[in-house]
Amino acid sequence: MYELLLVTHFIGLAMGVGTSFAAMALGMASKAMPEAERAQFMLRAMAIGKNGSIGLALLLLSGLGMWFYRGIRETMAWGGGAFHAKLTLVVLLIGAFGYLQVLQKRARRAQGGPALARLPKVGGFVLLLGIGIIASAVLAFK
Ligand code: HEM
Repeated sequence: MYELLLVTHFIGLAMGVGTSFAAMALGMASKAMPEAERAQFMLRAMAIGKNGSIGLALLLLSGLGMWFYRGIRETMAWGGGAFHAKLTLVVLLIGAFGYLQVLQKRARRAQGGPALARLPKVGGFVLLLGIGIIASAVLAFK
């Protein structure tokens, strides 16, 4: 059972952080496009966000599952300060991800506009948080 949770954690990781890298590549590829075409392209490309949502959901569910499976206190003792740091970054990630969803909804409604322009910055922040969480997880669970 535990192995299944860990495999699910890594699939979630691939889907979640993979989506951030893909979004960055798509944003860079669209930079040379004329403004109107760029907006249409990015609005379509936002469809990959669904993979990011599924990835984050898998990470949270399997992460909590492993935490309960190993025992709350035992996992805290095992992971130490780095696990606390990881959990703090996870809370920030959930907040930033929620804001990303709000911006995407606004951009879709306005068919572009300021919300679409803000997406790359918030998306980049989400990617940085994801990398920070991976680093603290590796430091925590040696
Ligand atoms: C509620 C949120 C989360 C909890 C409670 C949680 C919990 C855990 C636990 C208990 C492990 C140890 C598994 C083992 O090696 O037996 C682990 C590993 C890991 N987690 Fe999470 N996790 C959460 C979210 C995340 C997120 C959002 C990411 C990445 C963006 C992530 C990335 C990783 C990585 C890379 C490992 C492997 C570390 C290693 O084996 O060296 N986790 N997590």
